[in-house]
Amino acid sequence: MYRLTGVTKRYTRGKETVEALRGVDLTIEDGDQLVIQGPTGGGKSTLLQMIGGLDRPSEGSVMLDDVDLARVSETKLTRLRAEKIGIIFQSFNLIPTLTAQENVETALVPLGIKPADRRERAAEALRSVGLGERLTHAPSELSGGQQQRVAIARALVKKPKVLLADEPTGNLDEGTRDDIMALLEGLWHEYGLTFIMVTHDSSIARRAPRLATIKAGQITLTEQGDARRYAQQAAGHDAQPQQAAEYGRQQYVQQQYGGGQGY
Ligand SMILES: Nc1ncnc2c1ncn2[C@@H]1O[C@H](COP(=O)(O)OP(=O)(O)OP(=O)(O)O)[C@@H](O)[C@H]1O
Ligand SMILES: [Mg+2]
Repeated sequence: MYRLTGVTKRYTRGKETVEALRGVDLTIEDGDQLVIQGPTGGGKSTLLQMIGGLDRPSEGSVMLDDVDLARVSETKLTRLRAEKIGIIFQSFNLIPTLTAQENVETALVPLGIKPADRRERAAEALRSVGLGERLTHAPSELSGGQQQRVAIARALVKKPKVLLADEPTGNLDEGTRDDIMALLEGLWHEYGLTFIMVTHDSSIARRAPRLATIKAGQITLTEQGDARRYAQQAAGHDAQPQQAAEYGRQQYVQQQYGGGQGY
């Protein structure tokens, strides 16, 4: 569980100080999904960096279970990130000179997993995102949607507790966006992840069980009852990742276009 208390982040550049977050309080239960929305420059990515332990707040605490990410040593923070937190960025951030499989393996290197096991787990993760046939392709030999799938496999191969995504569909066309969203939903259900996602896409935000809006560094939370019911229903679904992804896709299409199922 996350408990953020009074999280403030200031960036100083020369004489100028930007207050990117101003006293953010936020609790996120294990297995919850939280969507973060808001105007550009509002502080969304900054908040994600605090939650992911990529940077520390100027004030306040970021408790992940019993560890304060704002105060823990750099060594422990690095370890915790490597074990528990998977991150997906808008720009995929794949290493161009490595194959899809090698890119996914990079997430397991800090965990000291043997090369043969790394290879097998990376292949398995790629199969679970539908890329079993593309293990040896370089990022430049993959489509945008496929590259994002590799990034998702890389984030999930270590079986993290938390999945953070910063505009994961920002660089994709609408059809591919729907596929990637469906995949993420399916994986969220399947693995019981705590899933926190920044998006500019209001059709995604509308259906989130919990929505956080961040403006000028301040947060407002909205619980969305219908979406919560849908999420609970879907979370009870027990399936393999592929099936779960397909299930997520169907639910997503139904939500978007109306399936007459009374969601
Ligand atoms: N490293 C940095 N140094 C100085 N200022 C920064 C730094 N990173 C972010 N900021 C400032 O902090 C504020 C919040 O930035 P942030 O990246 O969190 O916004 P955002 O909500 O993610 O925006 P977008 O939707 O454009 O991605 C902005 O005013 C930005 O200019
Ligand atoms: Mg951002």
